Amino acid sequence: MVNCLIIGHGAREHAIGEALVRGGAELYAFMSFKNAGLDELSKQRIKIHSETDFKEIISFCKSNRIDFAVIGPEKPLCVGIVDALESNNIPCVGPKIEAAQIEGSKIFMRNLLEKFKIPSNIESKSFSKIDGVSEYIDNVGEETIVVKPNGLTGGKGVKVFGEHLHSKQDIISYCKEVIENGDTFLLEEKLDGEEFTLQTFVDGTNVVPTPIVQDHKRAYENDEGPNTGGMGSYSMETHLMPFITREDVKKALDDMEKVISAIKAETGTKYKGFLYGQFMKTKKGIKLVEFNARLGDPEAMNILPLLETNFVKICQGIINENLDFEVKFKDQATVCKYLAPEGYPVTPKKDEFVLIDNEKLKKIGAKFYYASVYKKEGRIYTTTSRAMGVLGIANTLGEAEQIAEKGVDCIEGKLFHRKDVGTKNLLQKRIEHMNSILGD
Ligand code: AMP
Ligand code: GLY
Repeated sequence: MVNCLIIGHGAREHAIGEALVRGGAELYAFMSFKNAGLDELSKQRIKIHSETDFKEIISFCKSNRIDFAVIGPEKPLCVGIVDALESNNIPCVGPKIEAAQIEGSKIFMRNLLEKFKIPSNIESKSFSKIDGVSEYIDNVGEETIVVKPNGLTGGKGVKVFGEHLHSKQDIISYCKEVIENGDTFLLEEKLDGEEFTLQTFVDGTNVVPTPIVQDHKRAYENDEGPNTGGMGSYSMETHLMPFITREDVKKALDDMEKVISAIKAETGTKYKGFLYGQFMKTKKGIKLVEFNARLGDPEAMNILPLLETNFVKICQGIINENLDFEVKFKDQATVCKYLAPEGYPVTPKKDEFVLIDNEKLKKIGAKFYYASVYKKEGRIYTTTSRAMGVLGIANTLGEAEQIAEKGVDCIEGKLFHRKDVGTKNLLQKRIEHMNSILGD
């Protein structure tokens, strides 16, 4: 019997916990906020406490004879949870603090890509003061600018010219806001194209790809509204996209392999865990938008349920640095739709009652993952974050989308979701967008 600990409280962690249990693990969970799904999967072997209180986590691991821990979110990784647990002989799936900088510091990431001449890198410059910002904008042209705070922002800190920023003054004001918040920032070249996520399992050397996924960052249909943590995502039965070829994925994977070697060369630390690459296919080729030191949320839900290889074995391969076997996925499509409280992400309605028809969900065949909701006296309530993810899996994208949409109908409450995620119409728009970019 393998005792596994999952750290984190969201839908991604619910999906990781499910994959561990499916792989035969005895699940334990440590989280800042009770996830009802993990509570059930772990048979209530949970502790609700800060996910960055290493002392408590180590003591929970020791008293439950945990064989290894899987770290879900970025925050504990970026403050050294793996270093703390491993120095107490608790193996982890996740990078140590030095290696986790690939997500924790966007400046570290861009400098690394530049130093090691990684082909998917783009133009950028880092700043810690407002001095020089105005001149830089004048040099490159305001319409080509993206502002990125250096540190973690929960996916909500990036502002793009033409979308969130509309003048040189807007850019400068946002840069000043970031400085006032105590952070440094990057001014980065604005890319145009179609994005895809490539998530990998990494054992220090081997980088094992999983099916590519497309996320939907914007809050509202047709990619309008503010950026969110992600409103839904899909993957196709081919494990590609109509506008992303096998060659494109190979280029992205090659760069991820180069980055794994570069991290080792630069920091002396091997990267072990999950590495998430967000890429954009542009007229100039495949370009890197960001790296995450973890699986994506929602993207984890698109890949883990498709695994044919035992996930516990994969985690052990990462830990023991022998992930040299084939990892298989079902040739099926997935569509994940997130339900968020009305008003999310700006003025989310919290503490609203949600009713879930589990029987109907089962009948439809939709899977369901808890994100940020809480249970009180047997009832489920919203918080200020995304509430739950509904997943459809089928042989085609169209069928998977229908299952997810019907699944959403089984949930009542003051919630909204993007009906367009995974639809034929949106896919067609993506194809046309890509064609227009490549064809110019
Ligand atoms: P990130 O937090 O880095 O994932 O950025 C959030 C979103 O901002 C991405 O998913 C992109 O849609 C957009 N974005 C980030 N960097 C760029 C860039 N250099 N050019 C255009 N869009 C970008
Ligand atoms: N879905 C984007 C992320 O996990 O960062």
